[in-house]
Amino acid sequence: MVVKVAINGYGTIGKRVADAVSWQDDMKVAGVVKTRPTYECLTAIQKGYKIYAATSDKIQSFKDAGFDVAGSAMDLFNEADIIVDCTPGKKKEGGTTGEDYKKIYEQIGKPAIFQGGEKHKLTGLSFNAYANYEKCIGAKYVRVVSCNTTGLLRTLVPLHRKIGIEGVKAVLVRRATDPNDSKKGPINAIQPEIKVPSHHGPDVQSVMPDIKISTMAVVVPTTIMHLHNVMITLKKEASADEVIAAWKDAPRVILVNSKHGFESTAQLMEYAKDLGRPRGDLYEIPIWQDGVSVVGKELYYTQAVHQESDVVPENIDAIRAMMNLESDKMKSIEKTNRALKIIK
Ligand SMILES: NC(=O)c1ccc[n+]([C@@H]2O[C@H](COP(=O)([O-])OP(=O)(O)OC[C@H]3O[C@@H](n4cnc5c(N)ncnc54)[C@H](OP(=O)(O)O)[C@@H]3O)[C@@H](O)[C@H]2O)c1
Repeated sequence: MVVKVAINGYGTIGKRVADAVSWQDDMKVAGVVKTRPTYECLTAIQKGYKIYAATSDKIQSFKDAGFDVAGSAMDLFNEADIIVDCTPGKKKEGGTTGEDYKKIYEQIGKPAIFQGGEKHKLTGLSFNAYANYEKCIGAKYVRVVSCNTTGLLRTLVPLHRKIGIEGVKAVLVRRATDPNDSKKGPINAIQPEIKVPSHHGPDVQSVMPDIKISTMAVVVPTTIMHLHNVMITLKKEASADEVIAAWKDAPRVILVNSKHGFESTAQLMEYAKDLGRPRGDLYEIPIWQDGVSVVGKELYYTQAVHQESDVVPENIDAIRAMMNLESDKMKSIEKTNRALKIIK
C-alpha cells in the first residue's frame, strides 16, 4: 500500500515533510496546499508536487501568476489518505489555523497530523517516535511535538529507560526566528521568557507523563539552532561513560566533541551542509560528549536542536503508525532514517 499524503501548509516544516514523504517507498505526496502564488510554487512544481489553492476563490490568482493549480484544498483532502497539517501555530485573531482545519478533517473523516504549534488538547495524543510510537498506531489525530520538545525527548527518554530520571531542569536558549524570516527579532537583545516553567516542560510530559521536568527559556538573536543546557538528577549514580552509552543506541541522537572543532551551533550547521544534507538540515540531536559531566547523581549536558528539521522524521513515523504501515517502531525509525540518510 502506498499512502497518499496531503501537505497543508507548505512553509518551513511543510516543505521538508513533503520532501521526506517523497523519499519513502510506502507513501507519496498527493499535493500541497498554498494560500498565495509565491516562490515556493516554483520548487513544488519542479519536484512534481501538485498545488492546491487553500480556497476555491484563490485558484484564479495562481493561474494569473502562471502556476498550474490542481484544485482547491478540499479536492486534495478528499483525494488523500492522510493530511499533514503544517499551517502556522498562531493566528493574529487568536487560535490556530490547525484548529479550524481539524473541523474540516473530521467532517470528511480523514486522519491528520498536527505540529507543535498546536496544543496537546487538539488531539489528546502527542507523538515522539521512540517514546510512544505504539500509542499512535491507527490513531486518527496526532500532534508531533515541537522542535524543542522533540529535542528534549530524544535525549531524555533513553536516559530514563536505561538509567532512570528523578527530575530534570533545563534552560532553553531559543533562536529568534527561522533563517527565511526577515521580520522578527530580537535584533540585539536577550529576551527572557518570563513565565516559569516555560511550556516546554509540560509539553515533554504530554508524551512522557512520568518524567518530572521544569524548564526556563530565553530567546537570542540567532536563526540557526536552539541550544539546551540540561541538568538531571538521576535515580542512581552513574558514570559519564554509562550516560554516553545510553545515548549510543538512541535513535536520532549523535555525540559531537568540541575538540573536533564543534565550538558552537555554527559548526554543527556547517557539518550538516558538509554531509550534503538537503537544505543543510540536521535531523539528529547533537550532544557535546566532552561536555557531559556527572557529580554523584547530578548529570549536566548541552545539546542543540535544528528547529527546521528535527521534527521531520517524526512526521514520517507518525504517518506510518497512524496508517498501520508498520507496527514495530524501530523498523519504522530505521526505514525513515535510511531514506533521510540519518546517521543513526
Ligand atoms: N519553524 C520551526 O522552527 C518549527 C519547528 C517545529 C514545529 N513547528 C510548527 O510547525 C507548524 C508550521 O510552522 P512553520 O514554521 O512551518 O510555519 P511557516 O513557515 O509559517 O509555514 C506555514 C505555512 O502555512 C501556510 N498557510 C498559512 N495559512 C494557511 C491556510 N489557511 N491554509 C493552508 N496553508 C496556510 C503559509 O504559506 P502560504 O501562505 O504561502 O501558502 C505558511 O508558509 C507550526 O505549528 C509550528 O509551531 C515549527
